[in-house]
Amino acid sequence: MKQRVFSGARPTGRQHIGNYLGAIQNYVDLQDKYDCIYCIVDIHALTTLESTSELQQNIFEMMLDWLAAGLDPKKSIIFVQSHVTEVTELFTFLGMLTPLGWLLRVPTFKEKARMQPQNVNYGLVGYPVLMAADIILYKTNVVPVGEDQLPHLEMTREIVRRFNSIFGETFPEPQAKLTSFPMVLGLNGGQKMGKSYNNHIELAATPEETLERVRTAVTDPARQRRNDPGHPEVCNVFTLHGYFNPGRTEEIAAQCKVAGIGCVDCKKILAGGINSALKDFRERRHALEQDPDHIYDVLADGAKRAQSIARKTITEVKAKMGLIRA
Ligand code: TRP
Repeated sequence: MKQRVFSGARPTGRQHIGNYLGAIQNYVDLQDKYDCIYCIVDIHALTTLESTSELQQNIFEMMLDWLAAGLDPKKSIIFVQSHVTEVTELFTFLGMLTPLGWLLRVPTFKEKARMQPQNVNYGLVGYPVLMAADIILYKTNVVPVGEDQLPHLEMTREIVRRFNSIFGETFPEPQAKLTSFPMVLGLNGGQKMGKSYNNHIELAATPEETLERVRTAVTDPARQRRNDPGHPEVCNVFTLHGYFNPGRTEEIAAQCKVAGIGCVDCKKILAGGINSALKDFRERRHALEQDPDHIYDVLADGAKRAQSIARKTITEVKAKMGLIRA
């Protein structure tokens, strides 16, 4: 029997190359070795949203990116969190086992509370409990996540241990599987690539938009003029060449160091590399976009399959917790 993988991602709309290299690519690769479930966590999104008006569009756009990138509904279960209501039931039950002190100490809670002091809601405190419910509802073994999610996963494991010790062995302790890919920096070279920093390149961008975005990228700060020699080892554009023009990095580094090429040319080459790497992806995405019904069918089927697993777990949990006759 294959082990179960579960991962969730917030509905952030169009995905960018950082999402692709850091997460989506890994999701795609795991599909052959594991029983994978991939979930768009719309309920989690409600903990930080000011407005929900873009939620549906964001889910749709994200699905286009996921499917075009190779997430395959024939291999994996792909669904939207709120479509399987059992998760909210398990969330409620797990809430009774989770000490408030644990939750108030979680670093992401403290950070969010600092960022949105006007909206420190109950759901925000419970965020890791809902995430635990996501994971264990499907008796997950392996959770591919970024490093920032490790405290959440540790909390899931603590909740599992507590549940198993009070009510008897029920859930496996899920293991984190860190993505081996190094963090992709944004175009400003300062932080991680992210939509909220507006330092990203959307996978779905046109070739022209891609070039426009790449043009704004920060390069080696010591290279002020065209004829100054560059330092590829400190240049984020050069790092990006490593991902998108892997066969040309030696030549590009050599030319940069002797000012044989300038940053403008170097960026054109990068945009070219990104555009050819994403050409097939963009064609597939465009085709998917023409048939929205297909996307909604995939999600309906995913929810149905996820729910049939979820129902069994909920029945077992309720019996163990004494809510129904065993
Ligand atoms: N908290 C995760 C994030 O912000 C999203 C998430 C929700 C998740 N439920 C999950 C990730 C379950 C892995 C497993 O990235």
